[in-house]
Amino acid sequence: MKKTLISSNLDEMYQRCASAVVKAGTQSISTGGRFTLVLSGGTTPRGLYQLLATAPYRDRLSWERVHLFWGDERCVPPEHAESNFRLVQEELINPLGLPQGNLHRIKGELESPEKVAAEYEAELADFFKLQAGDVPTFDLILLGMGADGHTASLFPSDSSLQERERLVTATRSIHRGFRRVTLTTPTINHARKVFFLIAGPDKAETAREVLEGSRQGAPLPAQLIELSDGELRFYLDKAAASRL
Ligand code: 6PG
Repeated sequence: MKKTLISSNLDEMYQRCASAVVKAGTQSISTGGRFTLVLSGGTTPRGLYQLLATAPYRDRLSWERVHLFWGDERCVPPEHAESNFRLVQEELINPLGLPQGNLHRIKGELESPEKVAAEYEAELADFFKLQAGDVPTFDLILLGMGADGHTASLFPSDSSLQERERLVTATRSIHRGFRRVTLTTPTINHARKVFFLIAGPDKAETAREVLEGSRQGAPLPAQLIELSDGELRFYLDKAAASRL
């Protein structure tokens, strides 16, 4: 199921998304005893994380049962300004005092991006008790989208986009000065729910292409995110939705 939710401004978009995250988490915890939540990097989700860490949202979820994962990471140490882990640490982990055992960080500081990807695959295999060939099912994956249509660290014309066997892979290309490590499309497409958060006028044309455009030619990375029986939602502010 695919749904587009357009909000008149950023704050409304964050409020609607925060309510949906809490609802999804409550459902997962009541049915399975835990909530496996994959977080996005970039600038857009910061406001969402801040909101989730404040009342009333912070009080509506049993955070001790929430396990945090990352959709992608830059190959930098966790204290680096470009680290997606650091973003979440500042806005969600520290304010809520989340237990270390619930944090499943992509260790971007390891000696090579390939090693980072392999280590994270091992982390996922251990947490989800995966057998060879299994794909983990995350309860909810949050994604952003670049104006070029990339999502997580799946970039147009990067080999990572074609990866269909691995759960996690490293980009060949460098972005904002670093190679990246990312969940692959098979891993993302196996989630129960995926929420995109897309805001700002610079995303409007790409949002139109992803949500309404033709699928001829090479699809944009964000167009490769399709859930066969999961729930795919696009949360947009009015500026990003201005071409729809
Ligand atoms: C990252 C994100 C990336 C991001 C988009 C949009 O590591 O940067 O995972 O996919 O979501 O680049 O970024 P903005 O929210 O800053 O526009």
